[in-house]
Amino acid sequence: MPYARITGTGGYLPPRIVSNDDLAADLATRGVETSDAWIMERTGIRQRHIAEPGTKTSTLATAAARAALDSAGLQASDIDLIIVATSTPDFIFPSTACLVQANLGVGGAAAFDVQAVCSGFVYAMTIADALIRAGSARHALVIGAEVFSNILDWNDRRTCVLFGDGAGAMVLSASDKPGILAARLNADGRQQHILHAAGNVVGGQVTGDPFLRMDGQAVFKLAVNSLTRSAHEVCEEAGVAVSDLDWMVPHQANIRILNFISRKLGLPEDKLIVTLDRHANTSAASVPLAFDVAWRDGRLQPGQLVLLQGVGGGFTWGSVLVRL
Ligand code: UT7
Repeated sequence: MPYARITGTGGYLPPRIVSNDDLAADLATRGVETSDAWIMERTGIRQRHIAEPGTKTSTLATAAARAALDSAGLQASDIDLIIVATSTPDFIFPSTACLVQANLGVGGAAAFDVQAVCSGFVYAMTIADALIRAGSARHALVIGAEVFSNILDWNDRRTCVLFGDGAGAMVLSASDKPGILAARLNADGRQQHILHAAGNVVGGQVTGDPFLRMDGQAVFKLAVNSLTRSAHEVCEEAGVAVSDLDWMVPHQANIRILNFISRKLGLPEDKLIVTLDRHANTSAASVPLAFDVAWRDGRLQPGQLVLLQGVGGGFTWGSVLVRL
């Protein structure tokens, strides 16, 4: 049975950068009070990229996909599986993955979306790994892409300062050499109320509340506990120790969450790839974007052992352990 290896990565961020000061000034015009000091101290976020109104998730996803194909040295026609993880799809249907496929000018390969919010990318990677190992795909394009600014309530300072827009992508290819060593996905639907966007379309009208709502402290605690446990589980499954990890690429939500996890795991903080200061929380895009940054700047090197982790609404979480 072949393994799935990472053979290329790519990322795309919309050009408009909004600093905490910019955002605070903008929110002040709505009577919403926040500050760079609060956002930095509580989250570690300095800025975020925000897409221009009307920007489609498929546009960001396609740009990241093209960069990943380039880095893998492949053509779109080589791809036989496209999975997009997103909570902000262009349409109810067709899937964003089908739109990306059309943008790439190809057809025929399987294409579908995965909805696991900020865990979406590790879910999508795990599905691609299973299909490659089963022999159903040779080269998979796995993408996390979001225009999260579309579902933010800009009058709710507890949430709108935390998120940004962007897309990250990876090519996973079949190989005889081990790549993905183990993966673990989890969910607890009973915790759905702590992080949700509960709007719906009925009779052509949006009903319910379409904006993201979050109980920040409940999410914080669950994120720390579930990701710590998940890291131990996936390492145990692969027969490696947490201390063997060269890098961890965690979901980029809050620096304090990452600090807690690294302390609980006994993993030095400088082994964590952190981009949340520049990207903020880009939901399903955060893990592949962070991975792409570290791949391109040379921190990630062949042979290294890397743990990718996602956590978010559902409540969902998961880990993928990879040998590069
Ligand atoms: O992708 C996964 C999704 N999300 C996460 O992982 C987020 C997890 N949670 C968190 O990151 C943190 O809980 C937050 C950053 C959301 C909040 O930090 P916190 O330290 O838990 O703050 P808090 O909610 O306890 O709020 C403290 C105070 C409150 O004021 P009072 O009641 O003490 O007077 C808030 O009203 O901070 C206030 N506050 C703000 N002040 C200025 C909340 N948001 C803001 C803001 N600017 N943007």
